[in-house]
Parts: sequence; C-alpha cells; structure tokens
Amino acid sequence: MRVTSQDGRRPAVELHFHLLHAVDDGPSTMAESLELAQLAVEQGTGTVVATPHVRPDFVDDVWELPGRVAELRAALAAEGVPLTVLCGGEMGHTMVGRLGQPELELLAQGPVGARWLLVEAPFEAIGEDFHAATAELRDRGFGVLIAHPERSADAAVDGATGLRRELAAGSLAQVNALSLTGQHGFEARRAGLLLAEQGLAAVVASDAHGPTRPPALLAAECKLAASPAGPDIAKRLAYSGPRQLLARGMVERVPVTA
Ligand SMILES: [Fe+2]
Repeated sequence: MRVTSQDGRRPAVELHFHLLHAVDDGPSTMAESLELAQLAVEQGTGTVVATPHVRPDFVDDVWELPGRVAELRAALAAEGVPLTVLCGGEMGHTMVGRLGQPELELLAQGPVGARWLLVEAPFEAIGEDFHAATAELRDRGFGVLIAHPERSADAAVDGATGLRRELAAGSLAQVNALSLTGQHGFEARRAGLLLAEQGLAAVVASDAHGPTRPPALLAAECKLAASPAGPDIAKRLAYSGPRQLLARGMVERVPVTA
C-alpha cells in the first residue's frame, strides 16, 4: 500500500494508539489490528507507538508486550501495510511504584537523556496521588506526557488546576483527536479546544481503540485549524509536535505557572 502524503508532508506519528489485539479494550483480533493500522496509513501516518493500558485490569506484565509488537510487525509486513510500530504503553499512575526501571524503560519513548512516558489522566480530578506518581517518574529520569487531560474532571470542573500544576512541573499534555471531533462529548471537546488555544497542549493523538474509535488525526487537525487555535497550532499539535517528541524526546517545557 502506498503511504498517503498530506500536502507533501512526511508521514505522521501517532503517540497514543491501542493497536495490539486482545491485551486491553482495544482491538480484539489481529484482523481488527490490521484494519486499524491500514486506516492510520490511509490518513498519512507512518509510525504508531502501540500504547495498551498498563494497569491492573489490563496489562500488568509489560514483558509480554515486545512479543506482541513483533507478532504485529510480522503481520503488517505480510499484508504489505507500511507502518512502523513501536512498543509503548499508556500507564495508569498507580502502576508507577510497581514497575522497576527496566519495565519503565520498555514503555518509554525518545532518545537517551530525554526519555518520556505516557501516563493516563484520571477521569476524576488530578489529585495528590497523581502528582506524586509523576514526581517519582521525573526522579527516576523520565518526562511525562499526560494522556487526554481534557477528559478529566480536572479540566471540566476545576479549570485544569491539576494539569497546570503538572505542566509547571515539566509534564506535557496530549489531547485526544476524538475529543476535538466531539466523539467524547461536549465537555471534552470544549476543554480540548481550550487547552490547544491556550497553548497548554503539546500534541494530539488518536487514542484509537477500534471501529468505533478509529484514527482521527486528520479530522482533529481540521477541527483545530478552523477553531480559534488556528492552522499553525493545528499543524504543530497533530503533526510536527508528535514527530519531534518521538525524535528528540521531552526537552521542551511549557511556561505555565501552577
Ligand atoms: Fe488510551
């Protein structure tokens, strides 16, 4: 399959994407994984970081993941789907103290010295336990990318107080594409657009799970471009931001006061 080029750009990068089958609430079969991968490629994506839920109710033994990724890579090659898949995870903050350094390294992205981890924002408020977990990750040498803070009650009710404290400590924020397209509801859409407009979001990712939650990076970029955030922020969040975060690691800091 030929990679679709959007305006002649290089292939896009997805940093949050449930692509492995039968490990969490993402695709249930290899066929569904391949279908999701193909949809991503058709949107111009060249690299997906596979990020299954790493938490007690889904993946709690991360050492099974490299084999899963290898199995998927082989299937993609056999089907001729030109997609690079990297091994990652969407870590629940309660897992931080349970994972050793090699396990965190297995889930982390970015070059040595600028490694970072994707940590799931709680749907309830971002509380002291979350701040303590991200502080521990920083102490252990990892930056933190917070997954979908716009879906947290912190954004909807608390004016993103917890997120702002995280950003001031050095974390970055990843907004879901499907929040921006309205699929996660009115509040998540409003919060996501506001985070982008205010410069509090670093990247957008699909957080794809399957047919009902498909890749939506291009649709999100269009929504952002037409919003008060505008086309420059849209392009940075959906395209250049993810590429840079993967290639250069977490070296940026958002100038936000708590
Ligand atoms: Fe996710």
